[in-house]
Amino acid sequence: MSDTRLEAPRVAVLASGGGSNLQALIDAHERGDLPAPIVLVISNRAKAGALERARRHGIPAIHVGVGRRARRQDHGDPHARILELLREHRVEVVVLAGWLVLVDPGLLAAFPERVINIHPGPLPRFGGKGMYGLHVHEAVLAAGVKSSGPTVHLVNERYDEGPILAHVEVPVEPEDTAETLQRRVLRAEHGLLWRVLRERYCGDELGSVEPS
Ligand code: GRF
Repeated sequence: MSDTRLEAPRVAVLASGGGSNLQALIDAHERGDLPAPIVLVISNRAKAGALERARRHGIPAIHVGVGRRARRQDHGDPHARILELLREHRVEVVVLAGWLVLVDPGLLAAFPERVINIHPGPLPRFGGKGMYGLHVHEAVLAAGVKSSGPTVHLVNERYDEGPILAHVEVPVEPEDTAETLQRRVLRAEHGLLWRVLRERYCGDELGSVEPS
C-alpha cells in the first residue's frame, strides 16, 4: 500500500444521518487528540443532524441530493458536484460516517486509499447491501453470536467490502435488543474512528487501536 501519512490531513465527512460519529471526530480534534481538521461535511439529506452539528462548529455543511428527484430537477451530476466540493475544500481524506449512498468510482479514483467507512458490525459477515442501522444489529442478534462491534475499512465500489483497517469487539448481552446493542456499539464507534484516522493518516503511532 502507498504511504498514507499526511501529518494533519484535511478531512471531509459524508453523512446521511444524525452525525454522532462526525461529532466524535470534531470533539477529538477540538480536544487535541486528532490532528486532522474536519473541513467539510456533505449530506444527501437536507435535514441530516450531521449538517446541523457541523454548522454549530463553523464547518462548511452542504446538502447534495443524490436521488432521482435531484437528477430530475437538473441539479447536474451529484457525484461530480461532491468531487468538486472536495477539491474546492482541498480535502485529503474522506470519511463515510453513516453515508447511505454507494460511493462513485470517480471519488475512489480521486482519493486512492483515502476513503474510509465505519460499519456498525463485524465484516464481512454482517455487511453488504441493506445492512445498515438496526438491520445490522438485528442480524447479529438473529445469528446468536456472542460478540459484535464496529469495523473501519477502506472503501471500494461495493458496499462494506474494502480491506479492514480496524475492528473492536463489543459483547452481545443475553437481554440485548437491536436498540441496546446499537447504543453499545455506537459508543465503541466514537472511540474507534478518530483513532484509526490518527493512526493511519496523521503520521502518528498510537499502538493497537482500542476503544476508549
Ligand atoms: C453508525 O452506526 C455507523 O457505523 C453507520 O451508520 C451509523 C451512523 O451513525 N455506518 P451517526 O450518524 O454517526 O450517529
